[in-house]
Amino acid sequence: MARGKPVIVVGITGGIGAYKSCELVRRLQKSGFCVKVVMTEAATRFVTPLTFRTLTGEPVAVSLWADEPHSKVHHISLAEEADVFAIVPCTANVIAKLAQGRADDMLTTTALATEAPLVIAPAMNTHMWRKETTRRNVETLRTRGAVFVEPGTGELACGDVGEGRLADVNAIADAIEVEARRCRDLAGAHVLVTAGGTQEPIDPVRFIGNHSSGKTGFAIAEEAARRGARVSLVTGPVSLPDPFGCEVVRVQTALQMRAAVLARFSSADVAIMTAAVADFRPAAMSAEKIKKTDAPASIGLERNPDILAELGGMDSGAILVGFAAETTDVIANAQGKLAAKHADVIVANDVSDPSMGFGTDHNKVYFVTGAAVDESPVLGKPAIARDLLDRVAALLEAKRG
Ligand code: CTP
Repeated sequence: MARGKPVIVVGITGGIGAYKSCELVRRLQKSGFCVKVVMTEAATRFVTPLTFRTLTGEPVAVSLWADEPHSKVHHISLAEEADVFAIVPCTANVIAKLAQGRADDMLTTTALATEAPLVIAPAMNTHMWRKETTRRNVETLRTRGAVFVEPGTGELACGDVGEGRLADVNAIADAIEVEARRCRDLAGAHVLVTAGGTQEPIDPVRFIGNHSSGKTGFAIAEEAARRGARVSLVTGPVSLPDPFGCEVVRVQTALQMRAAVLARFSSADVAIMTAAVADFRPAAMSAEKIKKTDAPASIGLERNPDILAELGGMDSGAILVGFAAETTDVIANAQGKLAAKHADVIVANDVSDPSMGFGTDHNKVYFVTGAAVDESPVLGKPAIARDLLDRVAALLEAKRG
């Protein structure tokens, strides 16, 4: 994806704010981006495709039923070319379609097909913006990682005064630029991620395991790949599909995870250990299923190697990030792990709250680095991945000088 000028695909939907997208396109071009435009049919009632074709010098995509011949299916090529996909203005209807994954025109098809970060600048009547159903749709998209540039307050086209006006064009352009910079800040880096929980077999049908869903590690791997990194994801058994653009190694036990990590660590610039590795494994695995009639009174356990601590002991120069799931003394325990495992960052969270962390889509974390502790708000796991990788990218840049 990374070549030449970064490509911003601007999606325009049917609202009076569509005319402000002309200014947005100009501002993005001045900032050095290649801008391509896709419009809904309704948007063309407010501003003509010719306006944007003239501004961008590129064909404007409106219909799925190609008015312009293309070598490749147009919505797919636009989706692949996009470094950032920005929808400005975005109506309540299109927000609802995106939240549902509907794809019934050029713009929503492109949005569904793209792996690029999504920036959404809503504009609508105050009541529509405040409606519970719109709030829920916005939250759904935020949880998946979409960035919203909140509408401003003022006089609306319908005559009402309130929230719903398209945000300031410069604020929208700034948000797009932040995402565009992120697209490349891990280019050239090899990022190794562990995810999920390990399973330590007792017999062929039973194991010692834990509640880890793998969602955080998968979100980090996907976001790192999107930002240009070569990503190796080593994961315990989870029910998540392979993230786009990553090497995925599926393992079962801590020993298998250790072997897969060590085989890749020498080339890694960054290692992010989100996996909930079982600290113990049964000392011996029964080759046959243990019948209840001859069940042992206890199962002997052996310590598993601590993979993160082992990497920390190698002093390879890679940036090391560990996770700590705690139920008490969250910060103190995280600081202890930071020192003991020679990590650069520990991302700590309190797993005593069942609404967050394990298996859920949200989390609230503490980034612990040396003496500094930054507390995040409650965020969707993709947003936590983004925040963490911002920190990792800054550490990498500092290291590279
Ligand atoms: N970790 C690891 N290998 C292990 C255990 C943990 O690589 N055998 C990594 C985890 O992926 C995580 C960090 O170490 O990044 C912290 O794991 P955690 O289980 O919370 O800490 P422990 O050191 O095992 O301490 P405790 O279980 O006592 O809280």
